[in-house]
Amino acid sequence: MLILDGKIASQAVRNELRSRVASLVQAGKRRPHLAAILVGNNGASETYVASKVKNCEEIGFASSLIRMDEQVAETALLDQIRQLNADPAIDGILVQLPLPKQISEQKVIEAIDPAKDVDGFHPANVGKLVQGLPTFIPATPYGIMLMLEYFDIPTKGKHAVVIGRSNIVGRPMSILLSSNLPKGNCTVTLCHSHTPNLAEVCRSADIIVAALGKPGFVKANMVKPGAVIIDVGITRVTDPTAAKGFRIKGDVDYPEVSAVASAITPVPGGVGLMTIAGLLKNTLQAYEQRESE
Ligand code: GUN
Repeated sequence: MLILDGKIASQAVRNELRSRVASLVQAGKRRPHLAAILVGNNGASETYVASKVKNCEEIGFASSLIRMDEQVAETALLDQIRQLNADPAIDGILVQLPLPKQISEQKVIEAIDPAKDVDGFHPANVGKLVQGLPTFIPATPYGIMLMLEYFDIPTKGKHAVVIGRSNIVGRPMSILLSSNLPKGNCTVTLCHSHTPNLAEVCRSADIIVAALGKPGFVKANMVKPGAVIIDVGITRVTDPTAAKGFRIKGDVDYPEVSAVASAITPVPGGVGLMTIAGLLKNTLQAYEQRESE
């Protein structure tokens, strides 16, 4: 059984990016610059954004963290985005989701300049993804594709079952796995809360991507022996024995499923680290596109 270690695979991506930035700086060019907007103080979002910013610094990107109050008006957030769109020093913009109730996530996503949309959530970029055109691939599905490449997991002609149809993970993941890409060409089944016989569908999968946000949902009796398991879940579950009072649990019952799978991502230390790798690659891509204009 192969553990698909996100630390190793993401390190390879970060090393490559670090040396590309070093060459840029050596040649007298500016550094790629990511701006992250964090609204409110959701603990999980704080952790993710802090990690994104830290990883930028670590590979030599510039980064700006813009914090806005939980109560901020939608217009103020949209104004902030417009300012970043117009700022020539900024290459990539990300607004951490979810957002407070008074703010329309859709309006926010559509306000970001598609050329700086390093999350790949703007409808113009999603449309390009669907048509197989060059674009920004949403960071988590991108990171999963990078992980499949790093560990050279065969995908051509395989049956991939994606559980969860979110715009952030499940939907773009299903598109990528079915596309004519080095780690695509799967036959894909996209499952969701209205899928009957989900366990049976999963048992026919060569590859399962679990992205539904229910800790421990995928059990051993839903997995074909030898299947490849990608666990996208990162739910905080209360654990009084843990230092922070919680621990992170994936959507897969790891102890059970790792006994039947041929390869599996751990949580933590799996897909989460690859998400950051995907974001960093998108930021460099945004920089290069802007510099070549
Ligand atoms: N919330 C959960 N995942 C993501 C992501 O990839 N990008 C942003 N902006 N917010 C998220």
